[in-house]
Amino acid sequence: MDWDHRYACGDTPWDKGRAHPLIAARACEWHNHSHRHILVPGCGTGHDAAAIATALPGSHVTAIDLSRRALDAARKLGGDLPNLSLIEANALQWQPAQPFDLVWEHTFFCALHPRQRPEYLQACRRWLRPGGLLHGAFFTHLDDENDGPPWNCPSAELSALLRHAFEPPTIHPNTRTFAERDDAESEVIARRSAHPES
Ligand SMILES: C[S@@+](CC[C@H](N)C(=O)[O-])C[C@H]1O[C@@H](n2cnc3c(N)ncnc32)[C@H](O)[C@@H]1O
Repeated sequence: MDWDHRYACGDTPWDKGRAHPLIAARACEWHNHSHRHILVPGCGTGHDAAAIATALPGSHVTAIDLSRRALDAARKLGGDLPNLSLIEANALQWQPAQPFDLVWEHTFFCALHPRQRPEYLQACRRWLRPGGLLHGAFFTHLDDENDGPPWNCPSAELSALLRHAFEPPTIHPNTRTFAERDDAESEVIARRSAHPES
């Protein structure tokens, strides 16, 4: 998939022009749990990253995408926020200087081919400190015949994938989402196993 080309053509149906509704619902909890270093992989035009950085001024948000055009838009949106860093990189290969407390996932996992899921999980392991959280919205109830992206990942499959590096996750249907995604998403909260070798 040539993501930069999709942004150039304006062929970006995933971009709703605003942050995912779950962010407003969960920012307070993230604040209470002192999740200060936050990563948004595959951030696109930056609505989620800017919303998190604005809601949690005491945090630092790092947002990564490989599309230069998406990042240009993200810079226009959130470039003035002192606690937001925007990085052009392949997130799956990128190595943070310090691990994060929280990874916010929204339509990055589903954008990757299912063959890349082990790579995504490996990257999550690298991104997060032991005990850190992977929190986000995952498509668990799209039609399985759907030829992605977005690629569906049923809850049981997701749970099995996460088992290798995370404590048993919480996965439940998410109703705090965009209208056209009703019944398709689950909210997933998975704690990175505290064992540094896992
Ligand atoms: C479906 S879009 C979602 C964007 C954003 N999360 C949103 O909801 O608007 C997937 C994004 O992942 C980015 N992407 C795909 N593969 C990537 C990779 N390996 N590293 C970094 N970004 C990637 C694409 O450029 C695109 O912006």
